[in-house]
Amino acid sequence: MNQTTKTDFQWRRKHLLGLRDLSRKEIEFILDTARGFEEFSTRSIKKAPALRGKVVVNMFFEDSTRTRNSFTLAASRLSADVIEFTKTSSSVNKGETLIDTARNLEAMGVDIVVIRHNAGGAPHLLSRSIKACVINAGDGFHEHPTQALLDAYTIRQIKGSLEGLKIGIVGDIAHSRVARSNIHALTKLGAEVILVGPPTLMPAQVQNLPVQVSYSLDAVIDKLDVINMLRIQFERLGGNLFPSVREYSHFYGLTVERLKKAKPDILVMHPGPLNRGLEIESEVADGPNSVILRQVSNGLAIRMAVLFLVNQAAVLEAKDSHP
Ligand code: NCD
Repeated sequence: MNQTTKTDFQWRRKHLLGLRDLSRKEIEFILDTARGFEEFSTRSIKKAPALRGKVVVNMFFEDSTRTRNSFTLAASRLSADVIEFTKTSSSVNKGETLIDTARNLEAMGVDIVVIRHNAGGAPHLLSRSIKACVINAGDGFHEHPTQALLDAYTIRQIKGSLEGLKIGIVGDIAHSRVARSNIHALTKLGAEVILVGPPTLMPAQVQNLPVQVSYSLDAVIDKLDVINMLRIQFERLGGNLFPSVREYSHFYGLTVERLKKAKPDILVMHPGPLNRGLEIESEVADGPNSVILRQVSNGLAIRMAVLFLVNQAAVLEAKDSHP
């Protein structure tokens, strides 16, 4: 990888905790680095030595299919040793704290901790408590930076740039870390974001976000270049925030009929897992406008880039402290 020599920019963050504090330049740098890794998937030998001798631990306190497997594969393609930690089979069930768990893993020589946790801020806490690099793989309702990076990457890959694009994020915004990280990434890259959903699924203080809000998908769908459909986070819903699932689907579901009103080249996105027939009709999820599986493929390149960059920052930090 010689991405870093193409520009005078030097990546210096050894943690990726969220996108709120990243500059446009930093976000673009990650996307450019990922482009270099994209061709890996097409090689017959899919290995690079960048993380040889390094240990990555996947600490997942919540369920995951795409994110976990994609981090595992990304780390192994960079030749790291990977430890898979799951809450259900660990001593967390015996009362061990997050920090104690992480410190014990660190004592085994872990260099990078990838963490998913149901408490917002857990990765931040960890980054202040251990020396290893920390990557946020989703914390509560807060952020999911690698998901938003792969979303931005997919849009850029197909549309060329995000500048001036109108991007709708539809559904359960209030409980979505994907929405929050997307808002930061997409607006920094020059897109206009329109949040669409019932008022009860909009976040508090939505007026302070750099976005427009619509309670009607039908009113905005013809304006959108990209539509990102979110899952209703039933596991996080506190009460009855909409009258019925059927009614939600009727007003906010992306159906074949509704898609007819959209621009013919609209990109249909979804972070997964899909609830087919609820927020998205199967024919749409598998249809010609859908880039849902491309998002998953691109996730690998993004996660390779993030692992590569945080490790590089840690190496530079170590050199600076022991010149
Ligand atoms: C999302 C998550 O877990 O935040 N999924 C993912 O990482 N691809 C979205 C969701 O669970 O709905």
